[in-house]
Amino acid sequence: MSYRIAPSILAADFARLGDEIKNVIAAGCDWIHFDVMDNHYVPNLTFGPMICSALKPHAKTAAGVAVPIDVHLMVQPVDALAGAFVEAGADLISFHPDAVSHVHRSIQAIQGQGCKVGLVFNPAQPLDVLDWVIEDLDLILVMSVNPGFGGQGFIDSALRKIEEVRRRITASGKDIRLEVDGGIKVDNIRRVADAGADTFVAGSAIFGKPDYRSVVSAMRAALTS
Ligand code: DX5
Ligand code: ZN
Repeated sequence: MSYRIAPSILAADFARLGDEIKNVIAAGCDWIHFDVMDNHYVPNLTFGPMICSALKPHAKTAAGVAVPIDVHLMVQPVDALAGAFVEAGADLISFHPDAVSHVHRSIQAIQGQGCKVGLVFNPAQPLDVLDWVIEDLDLILVMSVNPGFGGQGFIDSALRKIEEVRRRITASGKDIRLEVDGGIKVDNIRRVADAGADTFVAGSAIFGKPDYRSVVSAMRAALTS
């Protein structure tokens, strides 16, 4: 299994975002998770496409290899803003199916602009929509907290949902990433991987510590032990 660790810059120092991204990439992370909140779909407000395009040149390793920007839209409406994030250099855009009127259309619109696409499921959101669109997806993101804030506790029912999503991915025969977001720490990441996740968002666990490398390494060690 090739695991990915995706630090959420929601927990970074906003006065030094470019450096924070460089540092977390130097620490060995795989993706940059970019949490977009609109004070409407969720009760918080973060950053938009202009910040994404400003950060894009920083999202690369010291050797110059691009590090994917994983945009998580917690906004309503979705379609126009998703297009702006494609323009801003997003590599993957995920949205919540309950935030749009026409899930299939929104998926097609993002893919039609040459970007990878994911669907995000809140803790109490059923997975039924996957019956009809799973073959179109690049990623499925299971929320293990309610969206809107970093630093919340992991909701255990997410483990059952991850198991169910893994079953559906396997049955689809498609190459789809299974990402989990919220409350991921060194001491629970292995449990989440055992349930079937392969991609892990971590905000406060990484940016809340002075030494990013030691956290990312401890997460990888937990995943491979
Ligand atoms: C919550 C965000 C998460 C958040 C995770 O709405 O989607 O990505 O940053 O933060 P931690 O890892 O602190 O729970
Ligand atoms: Zn997120």
